[in-house]
Amino acid sequence: MSKLRLGVNIDHVATVRNARGASYPDPVRAAEMALAAGADGITAHLREDRRHISDADIDALVAITRRRGRPLNLEMAVTPEMEAIALAHRPHAACLVPERREEVTTEGGLNVVKGHNVITPLIGRLSAAGIRVSCFIDADPAQVAAAGSAGTAVVELHTGAYCDAVRERSPHAPALLEKLKAAAAQAAGLGLEVHAGHGIDYETVKPIAAIGELVELNIGHFLIGEAIFIGLGPAIQRMRALMDEARANSPGELAQVGQR
Ligand code: PXP
Repeated sequence: MSKLRLGVNIDHVATVRNARGASYPDPVRAAEMALAAGADGITAHLREDRRHISDADIDALVAITRRRGRPLNLEMAVTPEMEAIALAHRPHAACLVPERREEVTTEGGLNVVKGHNVITPLIGRLSAAGIRVSCFIDADPAQVAAAGSAGTAVVELHTGAYCDAVRERSPHAPALLEKLKAAAAQAAGLGLEVHAGHGIDYETVKPIAAIGELVELNIGHFLIGEAIFIGLGPAIQRMRALMDEARANSPGELAQVGQR
């Protein structure tokens, strides 16, 4: 099974900075540290209300990721303003996310079924500009099918419901993990690259990372929180090690070992 990529979302470094209206901590410095610690790419969400990442942060993140030859994944709402910003910067990837002003985080996946008429042409325009487009969707068969027919190259499965269920010790957690597995298999069957993210921590990362179809995880809030206690580099290295352990112990890998 291939190595799973880790995209580190540095939004909440900017949340801390903005809490004081100061110039620090700097999310761009966090991105540099994340790459040095083994992150495969950087993810940032430029929200309509600019509550964390700013336009100037995006300018700087584009520059440093380009200089280091690492991918920047711009999370963006399906709006003309964000489309213009994406087309001006041409990041490696753009992940289309739903956005509501009153939410504290991206609470659910994009409704590609309902928004098909707007999302499909947007994917076309971003893809034509050389941007690899991803749709952030719930692990729902109808959404996976709609994303496939909308022409996206990638789907990112929303892992928030599963991660919350694990933390709350809910009896629904196993069923939610099965839904993620089924959605990953369905998306890969449609020829889509499959990513996952939201709410992942040290406990939930291993069952998610063991889903063989996944090629990338995007993780932010937990890593930035953990960085307060152990530093950003060590937090990323520990997450990376857990991802690698999950891959090494997954059934597909054991079957391959058996064949050697
Ligand atoms: N993927 C997407 C599309 C997101 O919107 C977010 C949150 O910004 C993440 C991944 C990372 O989630 P978390 O910060 O909970 O790790």
